Amino acid sequence: MTDCIPVITLDGPAASGKGTIASRVADALGFHYLDSGALYRIATLDALSKGIDLDDAQALSPVFEGGRILLDGRDVTTAIRAEEVSSATSRVAVVPGVRAALFALQKNAARLPGLVADGRDMGTVVFPEAPLKVFMTATARVRAERRYCQLLERGETADLEALTADLEERDRRDSQRATAPLKPAEDARLLDTSCMGIEEVVKKVLEWWDETKKLS
Ligand code: DC
Repeated sequence: MTDCIPVITLDGPAASGKGTIASRVADALGFHYLDSGALYRIATLDALSKGIDLDDAQALSPVFEGGRILLDGRDVTTAIRAEEVSSATSRVAVVPGVRAALFALQKNAARLPGLVADGRDMGTVVFPEAPLKVFMTATARVRAERRYCQLLERGETADLEALTADLEERDRRDSQRATAPLKPAEDARLLDTSCMGIEEVVKKVLEWWDETKKLS
């Protein structure tokens, strides 16, 4: 079924800007948007707050309503982005049972007229048939600086060195895990955004999508 639904995958390391780019590309094309990281974050938040056995992850029932993310009826849209949850999520995401539980949910997100999916294994595991796969990178320092500015804008305090170290640790865990590690699909287009602005990256992905459609 998903074979006839156009899917664009955007994978890459933490804080590489995938979420912003994916939702902008989805808006531009009128496609649906899947933030797969949010699913892992919800599983983590739930596990942290209830002390549940991670093997029970299949019992999780995340709900997405009007752009908000609900867990047991509670709005957790902001809570899942907390630094503590970000760091813990890369640990929970190594658990094969959690990944298996979230697989069908991600597959079901592919709906007409199309889907833009961002994460770590969208192009390699969840949507290997996607006609356009993009792998975004940026140096850990650049990503930490972007995150640092976001935190300051939100009135929070931040430590650039600690953010850089935390991102490097998350990259290491995401890339070295046995199940669905972070890596580009063989046919992914690589995009280093270290020196690129948001508009430029969105434009590039949309250009690639136009090229892809012409070839199909
Ligand atoms: O994209 P993000 O920062 O919201 O992802 C949070 C964590 O979830 C990250 O450490 C890796 C994990 N993740 C994953 O393993 N597979 C995905 N498809 C998406 C996220």
